[in-house]
Amino acid sequence: MTRVPFICGNWKLHKNVAESVELATAIKNAVGPIRDVEVTIAPVFTALYAVGKRLEGSSVALAAQDCFWKSDGAYTGEVSAELLRDVGCSYVIVGHSERRQFFGELDAAVNLKAKAALAAGLRPIVCVGESERERDAGETFGRISAQLEGSLEGFGQEAAAKLVIAYEPIWAIGTGRTATPGQAEEVHAFVRDRLKKQFSAAGDSIRIAYGGSVKPDNARLLLEQPNIDGALVGGASLKADDFLGIVKYRSG
Ligand code: PGA
Repeated sequence: MTRVPFICGNWKLHKNVAESVELATAIKNAVGPIRDVEVTIAPVFTALYAVGKRLEGSSVALAAQDCFWKSDGAYTGEVSAELLRDVGCSYVIVGHSERRQFFGELDAAVNLKAKAALAAGLRPIVCVGESERERDAGETFGRISAQLEGSLEGFGQEAAAKLVIAYEPIWAIGTGRTATPGQAEEVHAFVRDRLKKQFSAAGDSIRIAYGGSVKPDNARLLLEQPNIDGALVGGASLKADDFLGIVKYRSG
């Protein structure tokens, strides 16, 4: 099964509108001729519209970092999937470990968000990953399994075709401690197995991206693993050269 690698820059809470447009422009210009990798960037909410405009006509897709599960109403401070689509997003990250850790997001909320994203025509990037304590206690597979079960509850094959899963071990995020290709592949293969159980053949087409201290110098070894179909990149996505080094991992 050939899966087009999915590389997404998660800019987290970094960069104002002008800085975001500048970085997006550099990425857009460099990515122009690259067709064998799907490139996506996820700026802060306030920069989405301007970055979306700048990306028009390019192959670089726009993602949001979160969404709410209601379309509209009295929900102060929230942003719906429909509104993200309105500013040009085609993807949305849901269930990032920082949302789970700092905002108490549970699998049930991730599930509602992913469903709302699909209903609005967005493709959800569903994040899962174990903590260091869970890994040390031998609970990695149990944790990932529970997160997948809760986050993808009620999803059918049609939804499966639109999903991206991001495996992000929490101990590797922003720490410089990348999972080894073997450690990551072991979990990715487990995730693949689960996806095939839930979605049959469609589970084979879902891209499973790895996240956690991906850099230009470790991207290739990770992405060459059979079940690692992309990267969700935080720190290294904030500089054009580093991010593009990951996008061009095949020549690295
Ligand atoms: P990192 O972040 O690349 O800085 O480790 C990855 C992420 O949180 O998506």
